Amino acid sequence: MEFKELELLIKTRRSIRSWQDKPVPEELLLQAVELATWAPNGANAQQWFFHIILNKQIIKSIANATSAGMAEMMSWPEMAQLKGSQPPPLPPDAAKRPPPRQNFWADAPALIAVATHKFSPPFEKVWVAREKVDPRAGRMRQAAEVIAPNIQSVSAAIAYLLLVLHQMGLGAVWMTGPLPAGKTEVEKILKIPESEDVVALIPVGYPAKTPVSTRKSVAQVCKVLK
Ligand SMILES: Cc1cc2nc3c(=O)[nH]c(=O)nc-3n(C[C@H](O)[C@H](O)[C@H](O)COP(=O)(O)O)c2cc1C
Repeated sequence: MEFKELELLIKTRRSIRSWQDKPVPEELLLQAVELATWAPNGANAQQWFFHIILNKQIIKSIANATSAGMAEMMSWPEMAQLKGSQPPPLPPDAAKRPPPRQNFWADAPALIAVATHKFSPPFEKVWVAREKVDPRAGRMRQAAEVIAPNIQSVSAAIAYLLLVLHQMGLGAVWMTGPLPAGKTEVEKILKIPESEDVVALIPVGYPAKTPVSTRKSVAQVCKVLK
């Protein structure tokens, strides 16, 4: 593959949030997952699992479970505390993008729920035991929590997955937003084993609309030390 072709593939992939009413062949999704598993991952432990859902009723029930959780959360009196607080920073291209319809993915032709095996850092017990007497142990435990190799590994696989799907002419969006309010219900619907956590939902289909996007310049996000 020429460098230019790789650059074009990377730069033309967009998060797709509307799809044609056309089924996605199972073989393509399996092929995309197979390539995604070639992503670098911690200790080559491959602590990921991809739940491919082609049943539209199940996709809808997952979307409904997350939106019900979100609606419940919005009704909590504690939500009032958010009013008047600083809104989260908008992405640089926010003005160019229409806000996504809520539950836009309930009718997606396919959904991939990506799970990771539950992970505890090998030294966790040592850090927990020692942090009461040694703050350095506490800092190490906190650092390990942020570094989360299982999350980094599964993220690498998802990035590969999205690029492969794009090369196949499919469009997908990596979603974490709906999960906190419905993770337990989603895991119940999908009969996810206790040993796994669903960390991302990826609706997939043939794109109906492809949005535009921008990126910060390299100078804004990169520093070279010589
Ligand atoms: C970790 C992560 C979580 C995301 N969660 C959501 C989400 O919940 N809903 C959504 O519509 N898009 C979500 N996105 C997609 C981003 O909004 C999108 O990647 C970003 O705006 C850049 O647009 P592009 O992918 O088209 O380049 C998520 C992306 C990542 C990497």
